[in-house]
Amino acid sequence: MKTNVGVFFGGCSVEHEISIISALQAINAFDTAKYTVTPVYMTKKGTWYTGPALLEVDNYRDTEALLKKCTQVYLRPELGNGTLYTAKKKLFGSDEYARLDIIFPVLHGTNGEDGSFQGLLELIGLPYVGCPPLASVNGMDKITMKMILRECNIPVVDFQWFTDKQWFTHKDELIAKIEDTLGYPVIVKPANLGSSVGISRAQDRTALIKAVDMAVKFSARIIVEHMVVDLKEINCSVLGNNFECITSVCEEPVKTDEILSYTDKYMGGSKNSGPSKGMQSTQRKIPADLSSEMSETIRSYAAETFRVLSCDGVSRIDFIVDEKTNDIYVNEINTIPGSLSFYLWEATGLSFDKLMDKLIDLALKRNRDASLKTTSYDANIFNLKGGAKGGKFGAKR
Ligand SMILES: Nc1ncnc2c1ncn2[C@@H]1O[C@H](COP(=O)(O)OP(=O)(O)O)[C@@H](O)[C@H]1O
Ligand SMILES: [Mg+2]
Repeated sequence: MKTNVGVFFGGCSVEHEISIISALQAINAFDTAKYTVTPVYMTKKGTWYTGPALLEVDNYRDTEALLKKCTQVYLRPELGNGTLYTAKKKLFGSDEYARLDIIFPVLHGTNGEDGSFQGLLELIGLPYVGCPPLASVNGMDKITMKMILRECNIPVVDFQWFTDKQWFTHKDELIAKIEDTLGYPVIVKPANLGSSVGISRAQDRTALIKAVDMAVKFSARIIVEHMVVDLKEINCSVLGNNFECITSVCEEPVKTDEILSYTDKYMGGSKNSGPSKGMQSTQRKIPADLSSEMSETIRSYAAETFRVLSCDGVSRIDFIVDEKTNDIYVNEINTIPGSLSFYLWEATGLSFDKLMDKLIDLALKRNRDASLKTTSYDANIFNLKGGAKGGKFGAKR
């Protein structure tokens, strides 16, 4: 019996296209002797489609034509129901399209990597690959993530944060606080996007105002960070769960601009080279050019970050190294990393198909562990002697 894996990708996110590439890479990596893969493409409008036409990257040039070749599907929010139903029911016959044993979200950014999709899967009670909602939400929000890491003595750059409403009403106070605590230059980021969208640097007050005015267009939560001027960026992937995990070799992505841009990340630095390889096409040094001591420190911070955020599956932790002082900072975690970081695992000695096996095993293990926890009591308080009368049972203690 093969395991039927539903790979979900696309989604309402600025990283929609990158997710398509990562998903197709992942689908191709599955050992077909063990798994049947059902691709489920989530459009930017939020409708879901399946069908073999989704497996060809060139078909995404014309999504309207692509969707005509596909079947619209949905999952029902019913506990334990892994059936994928066709949205347009035929007059006769079943509306069951496929039964999924496990869901593999290959979604980047909002609505996919941020715990919202994982929340739906928790509700349905299906096993799924990757981080649960808690780790996904905390990992996605650059403010919350940095607060947790700071609390756990994992180094992060100094920062200030505020909401868009605070910015509109208390701009002068916020600017004064940023200037007092951080000084210039700073880097301004919407708290919960990815792929460098909405991020800019500011050397002075005028630039700061412009940068925040831009960032608030993307997010209601803004983080302003001390900017490391002479930096080296190092990434390290972690695989496992909050009990046991392993780290990959480190990579150094090479950038062509001061900020590692969307073009650098996905198009190998050139707008003309095309996005078909996603994160895999970033120019990079693997392993990164680091002393073994520095590399070990980074790997241990990566594992610790993964653990304190209670991650599961495969994540990539991105670091900033201040080249002047050799200080190391965790910059961010990607709980569904581009190309699932397979290139880092290949360089560490784990092939892409074995990485897929490992991710499926981890998901099934978490599901088994979760099923052993008590989530409800069989006793119905309404049947208890005297009944459940208002305050006595109603108030939670
Ligand atoms: N504190 C910082 N100092 C210097 N450069 C930074 C800093 N934070 C981010 N950057 C640069 O901006 C890029 C994007 O920031 P990041 O926080 O990784 O956002 P995203 O989630 O969009 O990838 C980084 O890869 C790095 O090049
Ligand atoms: Mg980044």
